[in-house]
Amino acid sequence: MIDVAEMHPRGGMDRKKFEPLAGEIFTLKKQLNAVILAHNYQVPEIQDVADFVGDSLGLAQQAAKTDADVIVFCGVHFMAETAKILNPNKIVVLPDRDAGCSLEESCPAEKLAALQATNPNFWTIAYINCSAAVKALCDVIVTSGNAEKIVNAAPKDRDLLFVPDENLGQWVMEQTGRPMTLWKGNCYAHVEFQREQVLEAKRQFPDAKIIVHPESLREVRDLADAVCSTEKMITFCRNDPAKRFVIVTESGIIHRMRKECPGKEFLCAPTFDVMRAPTDHCRCSECKFMKLNTLEKVRDCMKQLSPRVELPPEIIRRARLPMDRMLEISAKPIENAG
Ligand code: 13P
Ligand code: SF4
Repeated sequence: MIDVAEMHPRGGMDRKKFEPLAGEIFTLKKQLNAVILAHNYQVPEIQDVADFVGDSLGLAQQAAKTDADVIVFCGVHFMAETAKILNPNKIVVLPDRDAGCSLEESCPAEKLAALQATNPNFWTIAYINCSAAVKALCDVIVTSGNAEKIVNAAPKDRDLLFVPDENLGQWVMEQTGRPMTLWKGNCYAHVEFQREQVLEAKRQFPDAKIIVHPESLREVRDLADAVCSTEKMITFCRNDPAKRFVIVTESGIIHRMRKECPGKEFLCAPTFDVMRAPTDHCRCSECKFMKLNTLEKVRDCMKQLSPRVELPPEIIRRARLPMDRMLEISAKPIENAG
């Protein structure tokens, strides 16, 4: 039996604390001509001061078109690097330099280069959750929001190598029918979701739709009513007639779901951890990297213009090509994508 209290994510910051901090951030934003971009997994108070909140694809698209002088990137390090690749002459800051990603860690550039050297016919497709140095070695970038479309558009005469998320890669193979060599990386947070716990949630809430991020294990994806990126999850819940949803991804996303889908109920999928050691506070899945960011750190990085993302010009130049390819294919209507 799942304790329903465990399935509710943490709430936002106390208003008394939020308002003065948000005021400082708005003043700094004006002074710096800054834009604040935040990922759907950020804590509610950061989402509430952002100019744009979205998935990795939406954030890259926003970064590509901004005319701000300073980009404040509230997400994880590889996302801020992506903004820098697209804006080499702008200042890009992030609230916490240590906000990494287990997928990025799993794929060092030297190891990828060694694998690529074993087959000159590889066409390397990198999930955006990787370092700039890895992007610089790849032919095209994908996000969970456009991976299917981009793999469908990959050259038919090449051997596809997909890095670094084997679960997303496996899901894309199922969708496209294109075989790919998969790098053995995973998201440490998404693989916590287990089939048994999601089945138990289904038993307790038979009317609920199950929405799953493709970084999850296949045995969990197989239980889903929809498998999609965080942005598509929000669109799905907005448009679907169901009144209750079990969300199998990082719990930060529930803030937007509640704001944008009034009258509907959103439950965080229980993780193995919740079942093993129930507590009286929410233990629903949180990405420890995404949650390093706080509103205070957002203010501080704007005040100090640090930590700042800096990348070697050669890496920027080489990583830009697969990024541009992704943005270009993403913008095409599906029937013309090939
Ligand atoms: P989305 O692009 O779907 O928001 O995913 C980003 C991510 O890091 C998922 O763990
Ligand atoms: Fe990386 Fe997983 Fe955190 Fe997303 S949720 S940033 S994939 S560790």
